[in-house]
Amino acid sequence: MTDHLAIDASEIARIAARIDRPIVLVGLMGVGKSTVGRKLAEMLERDFIDADDAIENAAQRSIAEIFEEFGEAYFRDGERRVIGRLIEESGGVIATGGGAFVDPETRTLILDKAIAVWIDTDIDILVERTSRRDTRPLLRNGDPKEILTRLYKSREPFYSQAQIRVKSENAPHSEAAEAILEAIDRWI
Ligand code: S3P
Repeated sequence: MTDHLAIDASEIARIAARIDRPIVLVGLMGVGKSTVGRKLAEMLERDFIDADDAIENAAQRSIAEIFEEFGEAYFRDGERRVIGRLIEESGGVIATGGGAFVDPETRTLILDKAIAVWIDTDIDILVERTSRRDTRPLLRNGDPKEILTRLYKSREPFYSQAQIRVKSENAPHSEAAEAILEAIDRWI
């Protein structure tokens, strides 16, 4: 349903016709990449794929299990391969895990073959959202606010290389999806 949006269907169709690459959402854990991505794909009438889900399917294990059994470096290798495959296969919207765009190879691939969109949000909102589920291995050992603040500082130089940046507040995810479309329209 897009009827409550400021942007109408013909406007969305006009922007969609100009998008010739997958849209890849990047940003910290909890910014809403999956929810916003699903909404954006629905608006564009394209596929949505969550890279973390694809990694879990390929490994037949949860992300937390992959970290526990094999470690983060192994996870990053799988993540790089899976995202490479998804970019080749998809013309839709891909949500990536928060660390994917920090990997130099993955980042170069996304920047070359897709439109990277950084969804940026205040840390306090992230702390609140990520506290709802205990599925993220990087937040299990320590104070989530400290960890997220540290990750923000270290990753911001990478996220800011995305072609598009959208600041998402506590507004409905449909508003972030709409802001992304408008930003892409201005950029392409
Ligand atoms: C990670 C983020 C997670 C997941 C893994 C590592 C990160 O994805 O890929 O736990 O390094 O920030 P979300 O950003 O979807 O939570």
